[in-house]
Amino acid sequence: MIRILGGNRLQGEVRISGAKNAALPAIFASLLTPEPLILRNVPRLLDVETAVELVRALGKEVHWENGILRIWGGEELCPEAPAELVQRMRASFLVLGPLVARMGRARVALPGGCALGPRPVDFHLHGLARLGAQVELHHGAVHAHARHLQGTTIYLDFPSVGATEQLLLAGALARGKTVVVNPAREPEVVELAALLTEMGAPVRWEMDRVIIQGCAKLGGAEHSIIPDRIEAGTYLLAGAITGGRVRALAACPEHLWALVDRLTLAGAAVEVGPDWVEVEGPQRPKAVDFRTWPYPGFPTDLQPPMVALLARAEGRSTITETVYAARFGHVEPLLQMGAKIQVTGNVLVVEGVERLRGARVEATDIRAGAALVLAALAAEGVSFIGGDHHLARGYENLAEKLRALGAQVWEERD
Ligand code: EPU
Repeated sequence: MIRILGGNRLQGEVRISGAKNAALPAIFASLLTPEPLILRNVPRLLDVETAVELVRALGKEVHWENGILRIWGGEELCPEAPAELVQRMRASFLVLGPLVARMGRARVALPGGCALGPRPVDFHLHGLARLGAQVELHHGAVHAHARHLQGTTIYLDFPSVGATEQLLLAGALARGKTVVVNPAREPEVVELAALLTEMGAPVRWEMDRVIIQGCAKLGGAEHSIIPDRIEAGTYLLAGAITGGRVRALAACPEHLWALVDRLTLAGAAVEVGPDWVEVEGPQRPKAVDFRTWPYPGFPTDLQPPMVALLARAEGRSTITETVYAARFGHVEPLLQMGAKIQVTGNVLVVEGVERLRGARVEATDIRAGAALVLAALAAEGVSFIGGDHHLARGYENLAEKLRALGAQVWEERD
């Protein structure tokens, strides 16, 4: 449980951690080779711990100290991923491609739905089948076999982050070239492509596609994880919602233009340096409309925190969620905090209110949790936010970082 006493303007600097969603696929890339993979700037997060537990269970050795993860070994990998670890975190499904590519077979449980609504893996399975794997479903698990994978051209009906990563990982050990048409271009996907290139499977981006040249054996690599753009965005929004001034350090401004644009329209003053972004919040934000969109569009992962900001805005904002069918876990608790929000299909209409009030609320996923934390920072009175293990999945030292900015935040046992 997190307890927050709202009302303080946040002031100061916060150091952004390595990106969760770049660290996870990088850890799974270690399954492609027994050679050592050294990853720097790895954030201490529950999801990263789950990924480490998973590659260990599959046969890798792992050493993790001071943000540096060293992963090696596993000449022979166990081709069966423990179902409990796959169901704990959807990204675990990414082990499927590397396991089939290396071991010729794999069994990985279906990750199932989650708090964000149904999240199928049909693009992953279709793509692996196009690469020549025999893919079957038995008792809630995917069984895949292939003597070898054969590079080919795969079209994605939506630029799915996970499916693009899955196919790059599998394509790295396939024969010939694997071409993904309509790939995701999120910075985390581009980072995975760079890592695979360093490991010996060169990746080239073209206008509508990404092409990976498969390689019989991959080598190790030393790689630094990019800054977490969603974490940076969350702290900038924390500055904005409290009418304070927050500078996100060790960030990558190039990854944050969609947010910078909407923050400016909302009346915040935003300044951008080579590796930092600073926001100074308005007294009260102005309403702005936006829709979530694949990169470089407005990231769906910042939709809930942005809704928290707009809940305090002057006027009515219309928000369209186009990436997920139902990513609205933050709406009900925000209503309890005094927000006025209406949901129709995938559209939210937020009628800004002058004041939010503290309440006892429950986080249902990582970013819904972030939205509640922001609302609580700006609210009158005390909020209690349960389900905070979700926050620990995606935000390194959240309470500590917020306290350093002047917030009144306490972590308490339930
Ligand atoms: N989709 C399908 N079929 C598929 C794959 C995806 O229909 O086979 C749909 C999904 O249901 C969803 C949309 O496509 O509606 C986008 O899903 P995508 O595959 O792009 O998402 P993901 O790879 O499962 C990653 C991030 C999410 C982030 C999304 C979108 C990781 C580990 N997770 O998920 O991050 O929301 O991309 O940008 O990279 C988070 O960090 O809180 C988080 C949920």
